[in-house]
Amino acid sequence: MTQPLRIAPSLLACDFARIGEEVRRTEEAGADWLHVDVMDGHFVPNLTIGPPVVKAIGRIARLPLDVHLMITDPAGYAGAFVDAGAEVLTFHYEVAPSTDGAREVIAAFREHGVPRVGVAVNPDTPVEPLAPILEAVDLVLVMSVFPGFGGQAFMEEVLPKTRWLREQGYRGRVEMDGGLNRVTTPQCAAAGADVLVAGSAIFGAPDMAERIRELRAGAEAARGEKSEAR
Ligand code: DX5
Ligand code: ZN
Repeated sequence: MTQPLRIAPSLLACDFARIGEEVRRTEEAGADWLHVDVMDGHFVPNLTIGPPVVKAIGRIARLPLDVHLMITDPAGYAGAFVDAGAEVLTFHYEVAPSTDGAREVIAAFREHGVPRVGVAVNPDTPVEPLAPILEAVDLVLVMSVFPGFGGQAFMEEVLPKTRWLREQGYRGRVEMDGGLNRVTTPQCAAAGADVLVAGSAIFGAPDMAERIRELRAGAEAARGEKSEAR
């Protein structure tokens, strides 16, 4: 059973000087979720935005906020991001790389009322260790670049991880993030991903709505679906 695709533009590639207009433009262009990249300068060598800015986005957004935490202490900030309006809150397995460690983060997220919990793996982190926690998460994010920056090249060697999750019978969302474009998005969808994040491919397009339609159509075709006008 497959779930409907979700196209999630990464606001990391938007014009942060006009973030409200960019959110509106993205929503009007036909996006499904808004992907928000939070970096702390420790887990990744970059800093982006924190709870106050995510909350400002949440106040005006109509679409669900898909918040990707690239931070070393996700449990400590879970409450702040729930308060900011996160619908999906994803932490990196690398910050608590054991079954018990990951279960603790997941438990903290649930205690804070995170609506949907995600766990992410970097390109060099195997996915098999997630097996014992798969039933406890709503989404697995398979990174297709090393996190920290937009505009990097897609690493197709991670695709077997997405396939493996589906082979295990994992029925939650599988998200892929990093280097997704018109060529690589169908590969992700064919492998079993159903949440497709794209930053530069969407914000760098001359016509954002057209680009989102192209990405969706390519992914649906790869899943053997007919694209519907929307
Ligand atoms: C990278 C971020 C991604 C990034 C993707 O650390 O997690 O969400 O914005 O950007 P593109 O689509 O340009 O690779
Ligand atoms: Zn991301």
